[in-house]
Amino acid sequence: MATVLTKVTALQEFLLLKKRNGSKVGFVPTMGALHEGHLSLVRLARKEADVVVVSIFVNPIQFNNKKDLERYPRNLEQDIQLLEKEHADFIFAPSVEEMYPDNAHQTYDFDGLEKRLEGAFRPGHFQGVAVVVHRLFDIVKPDFACFGEKDYQQLLIIKKLVALENLPVKIIGAPIVREPDGLAMSSRNQLLKNNERMLASMIYQVLKIAKEKAATMSPQQVIAFVQKYFDDIPEFTLEYFTIVDSQNLLPIVSWKNAHEPRGLIAVYLNEVRLIDNIVF
Ligand code: PAJ
Repeated sequence: MATVLTKVTALQEFLLLKKRNGSKVGFVPTMGALHEGHLSLVRLARKEADVVVVSIFVNPIQFNNKKDLERYPRNLEQDIQLLEKEHADFIFAPSVEEMYPDNAHQTYDFDGLEKRLEGAFRPGHFQGVAVVVHRLFDIVKPDFACFGEKDYQQLLIIKKLVALENLPVKIIGAPIVREPDGLAMSSRNQLLKNNERMLASMIYQVLKIAKEKAATMSPQQVIAFVQKYFDDIPEFTLEYFTIVDSQNLLPIVSWKNAHEPRGLIAVYLNEVRLIDNIVF
């Protein structure tokens, strides 16, 4: 049985007892509305850890858009059931007041990484992510934590956070879990209407075509191809598609000497914002 806790001190007391016995603690931070992508991280943690902690907290300070926060899907009862099946030990689901007793939040300098791509279109987003993840790490003090490559830039930000603050947490990245038609799983997929859900599969299809095009086209040509593709479909509004170095997320100018080039995309399908990425 998983123990569901809403209070920081209660979780800490339980964890202290476990850690005294030398238990290895694995942690999966989430915002709930769980799907197979989240559960893959829980399974990964389960394999490596004696104690698995999953947090469910829709973090208001990482939303730069009030409407996006309001309609973010929430489904705690179902989440708890799913996590029971995966044998999570502790589910930490705090209130906003419990997480943020005051409004003073640290700001971090991630060397510009927090301002590019997602950061450019969602100002303050990664500061909010860093604040909550840092606070969660302080509370849980895990030996390791799992993050998905679905939010690739977030994974890099968390690795930087750990290095910057000397946190004793190992960060494990995990591959993107997709629907059978290729759509990257996301809590936001629940917001798609039927016809939108069908169109959404095009995002990964286009990424795969773009990857094939890389054999004969320059990075700039591939980018132009993807832009044109989405320009021609009125339901889509492309925010960005870029091909970057996987380590620093700086755009690559040629395939030669490019370090693990990765195409990253953010696109609105009508009102719903979706992201994905692919290694080239
Ligand atoms: P959330 O969007 O709930 O995602 C929680 C974790 O699940 C993240 O590490 C994310 O990358 C991973 N994930 C989501 N979809 C995935 C997929 N299809 N395949 C693999 N992994 C996937 O990311 C957040 O929450 C928040 O920003 C958080 C880190 C919890 C801080 O608030």
